[in-house]
Amino acid sequence: MEFRTRAIHVGQDRDSASGAIVPPIHVASTFVQPDVSMTADYDYARTASPTRRGFETTLASLDNGVRALAFASGMAATHCVTQLLAPGDRIVTGTDIYGGSWRLFNKLLPQHGISVAAVDTSDLAAVAAAMTPATKLLWIESPGNPLLSITDIAGCAGIAHAAGALLACDTTLATPVLTRPLDLGADIVMHSATKYLGGHSDLLGGALVVRDADLGTRLHWVQNATGAVMGPFESFLCSRGVKTVDLRVRAQSATALALAEWLAAHPRVARVFYPGLPSHPGHALAARQMVGGFGGILSFELAGDCDAARRVVESTRLFQLAVSLGAVESLIELPAVMSHGSYEPAARRAVGIADGLIRLSVGLEAFDDLQKDLAAALN
Ligand SMILES: Cc1ncc(COP(=O)(O)O)c(C=O)c1O
Repeated sequence: MEFRTRAIHVGQDRDSASGAIVPPIHVASTFVQPDVSMTADYDYARTASPTRRGFETTLASLDNGVRALAFASGMAATHCVTQLLAPGDRIVTGTDIYGGSWRLFNKLLPQHGISVAAVDTSDLAAVAAAMTPATKLLWIESPGNPLLSITDIAGCAGIAHAAGALLACDTTLATPVLTRPLDLGADIVMHSATKYLGGHSDLLGGALVVRDADLGTRLHWVQNATGAVMGPFESFLCSRGVKTVDLRVRAQSATALALAEWLAAHPRVARVFYPGLPSHPGHALAARQMVGGFGGILSFELAGDCDAARRVVESTRLFQLAVSLGAVESLIELPAVMSHGSYEPAARRAVGIADGLIRLSVGLEAFDDLQKDLAAALN
């Protein structure tokens, strides 16, 4: 079946008892066993639960994986991957990554004896040079956040595997609609389901998807041992959200491209970061690696100072001033002090995230209304 059909039907069988077209939300924390051997499909909801499994089954199909695991948040999913590592191991990460991931990698993991090296992963030579025998994990994000850098996923898979490391790809911004990293050789896909998969700013969730069953078993062991699982209500909302993810992401990508083109020609705008623009350094790669659009997120810098950027983000009306992304409502923010405020300022500036960078998450409102809103704020 095609992607859009699977998003609606895989893992979402109607309820056999009632015929209800939408499966019920199973809220039970524990499940009666036929005997003490604990061989039933479900025993305790931290280990597995029917509503969570429904969403996991859909997502595994959408990412062309063999197994998905749903978590309480994107950070819980990321943290689970890092638990595969031991003291003395090393992670190589991108520099253009979500601020919370930067905080986990650079501030928490070193306390547990894991070292981190950050490189510009859009430069494959730099990635290869950063790999050492101690490197067990290469963590990339494509498109990156907030600079929308594009990383060659297949190229990174080759480098990681040659070095004996796993490749994990945070594909929150692309979603499986636009990029399927497992098909390109990644071992693990990570999603903040809070964003496009849920799609409506009404839940927190995360997910991992793998193409190797043994790796799935290892990650599930960690998930069960640490316990940050997605609850039944969030699982239901995610199952509902992914039914329309294909339509939403394609429409958001089309509006984002039109806004990026308009902003690039605006006299008050100095620079636009959007992989759909031919001027973007990753455009050719994005055109090959992403299918159906370049995503709904874009960033830009103004010709003026940081104060001008602050005034713009505080002046829009339809673009609401808030962190997060990927929902039906358009959002605007200043990464330096908001989504990426947990970076050390010097490290943030060094990787190109300027104090005055503005990030947009383009929602499903009409292009004309969004353009007028931005035009008024820029004026
Ligand atoms: C690209 C990306 N990855 C991971 C996360 C973390 O996800 P969560 O907020 O669901 O923990 C976010 C959140 O903003 C994100 O934007």
